[in-house]
Amino acid sequence: MSHYLPLAALLSLLSQANALVRPDGVGRLPALGWNTWNAFACDIDDSKIMTAAEEAINLGLKDAGYQYINIDDCWSVQSGRDPNTQRMIPDPVKFPNGISGVASEIHGLGLKLGIYSSAGTVTCAGYPASLGYEKIDAESFAEWGVDYLKYDNCGVPASWNDQYTHCVPDNTNGARLPNGTCPDITNPAPPGYDWSTSRTAHRYGAMRDALLSVNRTILYSLCEWGQADAKEWANATGNSWRTTGDITPDWSRIAEIANENSFLMNYVDFWSHPDPDMLEVGNGDLTIEENRAHFALWAAMKSPLIIGTPLDSIREEHVAILKNKHLLSFHQDPVIGRPAYPYKWGYNPDWTFDPVHPAEYWSGPSSTLGGTLVLMFNFEESAKNRTAVWSEIPELRGSAGNHTGYHVTDAWTDKDLGCVKGEYSKTLQSHDVAALVVGKSC
Ligand SMILES: *[C@@H]1O[C@H](CO)[C@@H](O)[C@H](O)[C@H]1NC(C)=O
Ligand SMILES: *[C@@H]1O[C@H](CO)[C@@H](O)[C@H](O)[C@H]1NC(C)=O
Ligand SMILES: *[C@@H]1O[C@H](CO)[C@@H](O)[C@H](O)[C@H]1NC(C)=O
Ligand SMILES: *[C@@H]1O[C@H](CO)[C@@H](O)[C@H](O)[C@H]1NC(C)=O
Ligand SMILES: *[C@@H]1O[C@H](CO)[C@@H](O)[C@H](O)[C@H]1NC(C)=O
Repeated sequence: MSHYLPLAALLSLLSQANALVRPDGVGRLPALGWNTWNAFACDIDDSKIMTAAEEAINLGLKDAGYQYINIDDCWSVQSGRDPNTQRMIPDPVKFPNGISGVASEIHGLGLKLGIYSSAGTVTCAGYPASLGYEKIDAESFAEWGVDYLKYDNCGVPASWNDQYTHCVPDNTNGARLPNGTCPDITNPAPPGYDWSTSRTAHRYGAMRDALLSVNRTILYSLCEWGQADAKEWANATGNSWRTTGDITPDWSRIAEIANENSFLMNYVDFWSHPDPDMLEVGNGDLTIEENRAHFALWAAMKSPLIIGTPLDSIREEHVAILKNKHLLSFHQDPVIGRPAYPYKWGYNPDWTFDPVHPAEYWSGPSSTLGGTLVLMFNFEESAKNRTAVWSEIPELRGSAGNHTGYHVTDAWTDKDLGCVKGEYSKTLQSHDVAALVVGKSC
């Protein structure tokens, strides 16, 4: 047997050398969980969190792998910290048993608890935040039994503003043109500027160091909206990092975010997870097709999958989407860290940046599915046919041969489609997705 690692394994070790590797595999795979914000915003309390945890179990979401129950903004006393200890104080009305009380109940159910703060002086809703108090807050979180920290980007004092502005091709983060350029930025960084030296990177690095110094493994979820070119340093800072401004339960916003995030697939691997924001499945007036397409995109991109809808009133068809065993199996692959990539844009020429029509044809290898996940989307406004042509799909051609037939399973219906020769076509309603598990040749 050779002493040498295969080249691919060596390259993948090198490329993860700067990633934030945590004990017990925490952060190695993209997180699965639930969060209060998209469901309840600031209107939260102990009982809503316990209801979510109990429903996660009743609905089979825990068995499907969802494990984090996360408290977002508005959990602490708003008027300030404890004057003696300088600690944040859990709101005694919302959380009569403190955060530690919630944590022990959540742990008793075999789930994990997440909390929220911001790398500024106040959170987005105006509650105390952690800039300058990183160590104290990390110690509180660890002592309370917290397992996950979402760290937002509000309340940043002017003295902490970055010297330069990075173009996030996102209309919530300043002007941008439909082609993803930011013509209005007046102070772009000089070529070769190292964004890991930016004040933003330092704000987020300070909390990483604080979390690493406490005696508890707390998954670190950066929420700095892709600013300061996060993709160049965030995998060394946190376990996942937001790439855009906030999601809303509107198809146009979901498509826009998916388009932006789709260009970051080279940054996805074990320990390294760009985050296009939490799920809106079950929210707003998204159609069933849009709910499906949203979930399939997020799963294929190996984004954190954090549910954001009230679980005591969620519809059965939305639960079924969130529990899709094929997509979750692809997402949680313990052997292959890379996500699916677009192999063809479809509606547009390849590599087109289009907030309305993201790439439509995606594929990725899976050790757990025993084959290739293939997705086809219809981002147009009316029903269209889409065709997956086996010879166009990178995983199905090349040195392994160009077989004409493959065993195919429909990932939504779990139906065995038999031996499919050459290609597979499907009529898709507006904003729908076909999800295929393409297995052995036949
Ligand atoms: C983006 O669009 C603007 C305005 O139409 C144009 O000036 C610019 O060259 C385009 N940039 C790219 C990279 O396509
Ligand atoms: C760290 O936590 C573990 C588990 O809670 C405990 O057994 C251990 O004593 C702690 N170590 C220190 C240094 O506090
Ligand atoms: C992680 O970040 C480093 C730079 O810090 C980069 O070299 C590496 O390619 C990144 N890995 C992934 C998977 O994005
Ligand atoms: C899809 O293809 C079928 C078979 O070729 C055709 O009958 C149908 O009209 C097409 N549907 C759309 C929406 O183009
Ligand atoms: C399969 O097809 C691709 C693309 O046409 C070609 O590059 C490759 O050499 C083929 N592989 C075999 C084993 O024939």
